[in-house]
Amino acid sequence: MKARVQKIFEHLRSPADVMLLVNSTEPHLDQSFVYVFDVPSGMFEGSCAVAFPDGRLTILSSLLEEESARQAAKRDPTVTIEVPTTRPERDQILSRLIRSDATVALNYRELTHDSFLSLEKALPKARWVDASDSIRSARMIKDAEEIARLRRAAEIASAVAVEIPSLLKAGMTELDLAAEMEYRMVRGGASGRSFSTITAFGAMGAEPHYAPQNRRLTPGTSIVCDFGALYQRYASDITRSFRFGPADAELKGVHEKVLEAQEAALSVIRPGLLAKDAHLAAQRVIDASPWKGRFIHGLGHSIGLAVHDGFGMNQLVDEPLEEGMAITVEPGIYLPGKGGVRIEDDIVVTRGGYEFLTTAPRGYIEVPA
Ligand code: GLY
Ligand code: MN
Ligand code: MN
Repeated sequence: MKARVQKIFEHLRSPADVMLLVNSTEPHLDQSFVYVFDVPSGMFEGSCAVAFPDGRLTILSSLLEEESARQAAKRDPTVTIEVPTTRPERDQILSRLIRSDATVALNYRELTHDSFLSLEKALPKARWVDASDSIRSARMIKDAEEIARLRRAAEIASAVAVEIPSLLKAGMTELDLAAEMEYRMVRGGASGRSFSTITAFGAMGAEPHYAPQNRRLTPGTSIVCDFGALYQRYASDITRSFRFGPADAELKGVHEKVLEAQEAALSVIRPGLLAKDAHLAAQRVIDASPWKGRFIHGLGHSIGLAVHDGFGMNQLVDEPLEEGMAITVEPGIYLPGKGGVRIEDDIVVTRGGYEFLTTAPRGYIEVPA
């Protein structure tokens, strides 16, 4: 993981002697910890990564993941493991590893205030600098191993997307459907879901971040399913929309328009394009349709160790796309009181344009009720 540590130090705005990545308790875990320390298992609550500019890494592991940490370190000679069992012991190790007046880089975006106060006590003379932009930039451009994991996460979710029509049964609840989908992702090789699954029946499809309830499926219902798998810590994020027959002419037209908007965005995606211009390509299609103004969120976001991993893509974001970025492309049209359609795919930006990571068909699917 030396290359990843070095990449972060190279991107730092002001130089630092050392970087600390400190986990609090779930859900306040800094995914950058497992970015620099590629360990397949474990939460590492309260653990800390001490990284040096030459790429060396010392992991202060919690006792609860000691075996996993030691196994991972065996595969990487630049990693050393320490297992402090108390806070004073941790602080002693930090003072041994870090010069008292060192300049210490921290991930301001993910570090809890409480963790920072404890670091101030351990290293009272240290000078702190913010590494969060640098960490974000490094994590934004995926290496080959990361792309392989993202691809597998996307394939697992895509396989479940293809199965959804066969899972739909009159009388089932939104939660029943979400449970079936999550079960299938794990059977397909995922370690779990990458975020809370969204299964929205009927009018609730008009709410992009709806949480499934006990609403029951009845004939003549449109369905939005937004979900993703975690595979070796990397996330996928896919949305497919369906109609549980009989058909609804307006929502079929909406589906076709959303697909056209997604194609419009995809057709311009390549290195150098500003995120806002990808968004605007999709928005122009929707705003020239009868559903003007009903695309109510950004086109997508970067994806990686977290499902929302870096930047969002909307009309205000000047971020240029770069080769190796993994992003979602997810236009939608939302009709309050009636329902919605969103089509979401994961792609990786390549030298010549992009490649799909997700693989499920995107066309209108009507499932006989
Ligand atoms: N799953 C939430 C989103 O698509 O951003
Ligand atoms: Mn999604
Ligand atoms: Mn998304």
